[in-house]
Amino acid sequence: MSMRFIQARTEEIKYHEKFYAENELFAPGTWLARPVKAIMDTFGLLDPHDVRVLDLGSGVGRNSIPIAQAIKAYGGTVTAVDLIPSAVEILQENARKYEVRDNLNAIVADIEEYRISPQSYDYIIACSALEHVSAEEAFRRVVAGMIAGTKPHGINAILINTQSEELDCSTGEVSEGFIELNLATGKAISLLKEIYGDWEIIVERVIPQSIQEIKYGKPIEFRGNWLTFIVRRLS
Ligand SMILES: C[S@@+](CC[C@H](N)C(=O)[O-])C[C@H]1O[C@@H](n2cnc3c(N)ncnc32)[C@H](O)[C@@H]1O
Repeated sequence: MSMRFIQARTEEIKYHEKFYAENELFAPGTWLARPVKAIMDTFGLLDPHDVRVLDLGSGVGRNSIPIAQAIKAYGGTVTAVDLIPSAVEILQENARKYEVRDNLNAIVADIEEYRISPQSYDYIIACSALEHVSAEEAFRRVVAGMIAGTKPHGINAILINTQSEELDCSTGEVSEGFIELNLATGKAISLLKEIYGDWEIIVERVIPQSIQEIKYGKPIEFRGNWLTFIVRRLS
């Protein structure tokens, strides 16, 4: 592991631990305020009966909890995986609070190491997760695992920050985003199109975005392109 990766990973963990401790799930005005619409909309394309969902880098359940609520009446399950033990604890509390404990299985694991059971899931989410793997090779490996883990006609939803940069709000200095894997937007799209060559693209969208964060103990504007790539297996 490079020193840059270790430092970026340390900062990411610090940021998320603090953010989750200070902001409740669905807190208005935060990025946890609501589930991602494109995920909920495309999830709605599936037959809800006995649906199995995997949420990689689930955090405290912004998408896992609403999906677990949506499938509760139909007997499905959500498996949610996150690296940070405190995030998974909060996710478990949220599952109790939102009465989906029986439909949600929360696991502490690194998505780079987590073995996805083959042909097991109808819908697999990686929402702001793949930019936190160690290298392009790891990105390819995790996506290959997602593909192998998807049932026929299942859906993969990849949402990823690309081409990120950071504005130090106190000095005005702009630097490359300090994130584990900072893919150029065009590169991410061509990689995904190559890997998912024979899948149907349901959503392909790039939206410039910026998020105000406290990082390295100072105010930072994190900017980048938010890529949404949602695909369905044809057979
Ligand atoms: C920006 S948050 C997004 C959380 C959630 N997907 C959502 O949309 O609300 C990124 C999450 O990915 C998790 N994460 C980062 N790297 C990871 C890894 N290698 N394995 C598992 N989870 C990871 C972080 O702990 C964090 O909770």
